[in-house]
Amino acid sequence: MKRKIEIEIDEFSGTEELNNKDSELIEYSMKAAENAYSPYSNFSVGVALRLKSGKIVCGSNRENAAFPSGSCAEDTAISYASAAHPDDPIVSMAISAKKNQNFTTYPVSPCGNCRQIIAEEEDRHGKKIKIILYGSEKIEVINGISSLLPLRFSKDKLKG
Ligand code: THU
Repeated sequence: MKRKIEIEIDEFSGTEELNNKDSELIEYSMKAAENAYSPYSNFSVGVALRLKSGKIVCGSNRENAAFPSGSCAEDTAISYASAAHPDDPIVSMAISAKKNQNFTTYPVSPCGNCRQIIAEEEDRHGKKIKIILYGSEKIEVINGISSLLPLRFSKDKLKG
């Protein structure tokens, strides 16, 4: 037997095609990328989270001379949001990235570890997170982490 899994991605060619809230969130993520500390990769990632209350929380990547000690922008933003606003679920998130001085033309998708972290936030609050990936030539919008992380490890698997 073979099972196929389909994922759905909405594609846009610029922020003017998005609703105001989503394009505003991208702007916040672009500003957050300016605050990255990424002297080793020169790849500066910014993330903006919109919480259910309307609050916007941002984060950027932090690197370290001992490379594995760095943290991704998604992880930084989510850790901050869940520590400071534990009962305020994340509704949507925007991700932008700059290589040296330029925003990438292609949308930057979260790394595997960050996908798992996003999945945990969805499970914790029982609500899908809208994921908005910015590129200057293409924007991708994905409704929920399951499209980016099918067959994921989750708490039900811990039961044995
Ligand atoms: N990075 C992120 O912040 N988010 C991702 O999803 C992918 C990668 C960071 C980690 C590192 O500081 C730099 O980008 C290059 O990998």
